[in-house]
Amino acid sequence: MPAQPLRIGPIEVWPPLILAPMSGVTNRTMRALYRPFGLGLTVTEFVSSNALKYGSRRTMEMIDQHGLEKPVSTQLWGDDPATMAQAARVVRECGADIVDINFGCPAPKVTKTNGGSACLRDPERCEAIMRAVVAAVDCPVTMKMRLGWSEDALVYVDVARRAQQAGVKAVTLHARTARQFYRGEADWQHVARLKRAVDLPIIGNGDLDEAHVALERMRASGADAIMLGRATLGNPWLISQIRDLMEDRPARPLPCAADRLRFALVHYRTMVDELGEERAVPQMRKHLALYLKGIAGAALLRERIMRTTSAASTIALVEETIALLEAAPPVAA
Ligand SMILES: Cc1cc2nc3c(=O)[nH]c(=O)nc-3n(C[C@H](O)[C@H](O)[C@H](O)COP(=O)(O)O)c2cc1C
Repeated sequence: MPAQPLRIGPIEVWPPLILAPMSGVTNRTMRALYRPFGLGLTVTEFVSSNALKYGSRRTMEMIDQHGLEKPVSTQLWGDDPATMAQAARVVRECGADIVDINFGCPAPKVTKTNGGSACLRDPERCEAIMRAVVAAVDCPVTMKMRLGWSEDALVYVDVARRAQQAGVKAVTLHARTARQFYRGEADWQHVARLKRAVDLPIIGNGDLDEAHVALERMRASGADAIMLGRATLGNPWLISQIRDLMEDRPARPLPCAADRLRFALVHYRTMVDELGEERAVPQMRKHLALYLKGIAGAALLRERIMRTTSAASTIALVEETIALLEAAPPVAA
């Protein structure tokens, strides 16, 4: 049976497949490139509500969406309800269709100021932040969290109930604690428990890296949507495969190595055009390494790419590899 659209207040998200916000990775260029693979919703990298007070060029770039992403959600972090409310008004004015609150980030630079997942140590403050943001904007507000700060303080059901009372319209659960960072495995039983505990759309997140498994996790947990992060990097075709399954079609095969690298070059050139060579070259190293993952003989190329300093030399290396891949005799069936 095909999946159902996700409803976030008046906004219908189809398919119920969302690209996870990833700071330093999912900038507007990447989101616009990945969206056509079949995403129903994209989320900006998280933005500090404090930084929005000053509105530096970099901060404003982070909340810009080219006007190409519809609907788009802008994610904010901070620990002060009034500052978060003010930031929500700014991002709404700048085109956000949805304002998302981050209660999940475990990075020390965020938690040391009580932001991100550190808020989960104080569910009352989470509620105050959610109420302030909901009151500040005329669009739906959502929230993304982890299970709790630590294994002995799993507060996600309590915080989601408070979200429902505060008027939040959907909750994303990354099924790990903050103390886990990225260790261990996301435990989807908690997604199922949350779905049963609250009357809100639930978006399940964590470790989805194969299309059939992703759909099975969604079905078994009762989640209304799924959010994909790391597994899409260098592999946006996973998005198309999941969309196929959500539309009740067999998942399309993954592209051959040469086609993967051709798309990597599109990504590369777009980043250089939009960010300039100086910023794009270092940022694209990690993306290229991921596009190369699993390609036979790519280790040497990856090493050479890590040493290149200009866009032209990197592009030439990748083009050379595509030519070699195409010249290789087809593998006998
Ligand atoms: C490099 C990186 C940056 C991230 N930045 C954010 C962020 O800005 N906001 C957020 O809510 N989560 C952030 N996350 C967490 C992801 O959104 C997601 O919850 C997590 O990676 C688990 O999903 P996955 O297993 O599909 O990757 C980040 C994760 C990574 C790997």
